Amino acid sequence: MVDLSVKIGSLTLKNPVLTASGTFGYGREYDPYLDISQLGGIVTKTVTLEPRQGNPMPRIAETPAGMLNSIGLSNVGVEKYLNEKLPLLADVDTNVIANVAGNTIDEYAEIVSRLQHHPRIDAIEINVSCPNVEKGGLAFGTDASVTAAVVKGVRNQTGKPVIVKLTPNVTDIGVIARAAEDSGADAVSCINTVQGMGVNIHTRQPLLARIIGGLSGPAIKPIALAKVYQAAQAVRIPVIGLGGIMGWADAVEFLIAGATAVQTGTLNFIEPAGPVQLIQGLESYCITHNISRIADIIGSLEKRPVK
Ligand code: FUM
Repeated sequence: MVDLSVKIGSLTLKNPVLTASGTFGYGREYDPYLDISQLGGIVTKTVTLEPRQGNPMPRIAETPAGMLNSIGLSNVGVEKYLNEKLPLLADVDTNVIANVAGNTIDEYAEIVSRLQHHPRIDAIEINVSCPNVEKGGLAFGTDASVTAAVVKGVRNQTGKPVIVKLTPNVTDIGVIARAAEDSGADAVSCINTVQGMGVNIHTRQPLLARIIGGLSGPAIKPIALAKVYQAAQAVRIPVIGLGGIMGWADAVEFLIAGATAVQTGTLNFIEPAGPVQLIQGLESYCITHNISRIADIIGSLEKRPVK
C-alpha cells in the first residue's frame, strides 16, 4: 500500500491530483467519465460576484501542442453557485475548492465572505492570474503589493485554507509567491496560462476574438516546472503545480521540482478520465521505486554532479 496523501495547510488530500479551475465545470459534468470521489479534490470554475457571459467568440483555439483560451470567466455568479452548483456536490467524497475572482479587491473579499460558511467548500483558490479580463486577474497578480492586498482582504474573511493562483507572466514568480505567503496564504498554485496568440494567415484575423489569450497544454510544461521550482524555493507554504500535465510522469516531475500537489487542466478536455489514470500511475511509480509515501518525493530534486 502506498500512502498517496498530501497536506495543503490544514487540508488533507487523499492523493495529490486535483482538477484545475475552468477545465472541469462545477464537477458533476464529468460524472460520465470518472468517479470524481477518487480525486484528491476538484477546483470549481471561477466564480464572480455577478454572473458573466464571458468574452466574444471565438474564444478557444487549438495550437500544435496545446490550446489558447479567452473565455473571460464566464460563470453563473456567486448566488447561483451557492444555491444550485454546490448542492450537487453534497455527496461527493473529495475536497471542493472554490476558485474566486473579482473586479476589485473588495469584491474578492465580498465573494469569500459569502462562500466561507458553506460546509461543502473545503478551501478557496484566489484567481489573480486570468489573462482574459479587463479588471482584476492578471493585472492584480503581476503586482506583488496588489496580490498582497487581495490576499489580506480574503484572509480577513475566512479561516478556510486560501490558495493563490499565480500567473507565469511575471519576471520573478518568487516575489509574488512571497507576497502571497506573507499576507496569509496557505498555498500558491503555479501556473495559470501563458499569454499567447495565433493568426489565421488566410483571413489575417486573430484566432481569438480578443486577440491575446492564455496558452495551456504540453507546450507550457517546461515553463510551469521552472515556475513551480522557483516558487517552491521562495516560500515555505505548499506549491500546487499545473501547466501541461498530461500523464503521471509529468506529475512526478512537478512533485520532484517542489509541488505538493498537481492540477490537470487541458488533459481533462482530451482524456476526461485522465486524472484518475494519473492517480493510478503515481501509485505504480511509487511501488516501482519502493516509495511508501508520495510526500517523500516532494522537492526531492537532486543536484547534478559538477563535471
Ligand atoms: O478566460 C478565462 O476564463 C480564463 C481564466 C483563467 O485563466 O483563470
